[in-house]
Amino acid sequence: MTIKSQNITAVAHRVSADERALVNGHKGGVLWFTGLSGSGKTTLAFELEQRLFARGYQVYVLDGDNVRHGLNSDLGFSPEDRAENIRRIGEVAALFGEAGSIVISAFISPYRDDRKLARSAAHEGFHEVYLSADLAACEARDPKGLYKKAHAGEIADFTGVSAPYEEPENADLEIDTGTLGVEESIAILTDYIDTVFGVPKD
Ligand SMILES: Nc1ncnc2c1ncn2[C@@H]1O[C@H](COP(=O)(O)OP(=O)(O)O)[C@@H](O)[C@H]1O
Ligand SMILES: [Mg+2]
Repeated sequence: MTIKSQNITAVAHRVSADERALVNGHKGGVLWFTGLSGSGKTTLAFELEQRLFARGYQVYVLDGDNVRHGLNSDLGFSPEDRAENIRRIGEVAALFGEAGSIVISAFISPYRDDRKLARSAAHEGFHEVYLSADLAACEARDPKGLYKKAHAGEIADFTGVSAPYEEPENADLEIDTGTLGVEESIAILTDYIDTVFGVPKD
């Protein structure tokens, strides 16, 4: 990407990340879900958001279709547009995280390089969570009937069918959502969040 802005100087915030964490009761950061269509990103993201919110957390889900309606409505599904889609989301997620929220992003994000870029935007507050249900499991579920359409040639560039999915090599957390149930997956996620976003009590 060409950087077009010049004469730009960053201004320091007067509220530190530690101060925000103290007030919120947890650190801010990004839980970056990645996995095939039907692997459970949306299901787990919104379930987790509701439960964390009930515990008083600052938490917000960024989900594929929602973002494509607004911020990224000018983008399609070519490799270039997918990369730009993820780049913008990575920057937005990083901003939310810096503001103190736990952001759960629920995008297929099939390319390793794009996920790497998202990680570099949010630095150490970034946690890649691989929902590793395999293609067979996702096709069997096909909650939105998209695999059926993709196989019928009605959707071009469909991840896992006619577009690649590059599996994470070093995910911070992997959950086999092909064999585990929703409750078991949520329990793993909740433990993980307590560990990485928790604030020491004294
Ligand atoms: N462990 C699990 N985690 C998440 N979803 C699961 C799990 N086991 C079964 N499912 C089912 O799989 C489907 C996942 O769909 P969805 O959340 O829309 O996937 P995605 O957002 O990744 O495309 C849902 O119908 C959900 O009920
Ligand atoms: Mg989804």
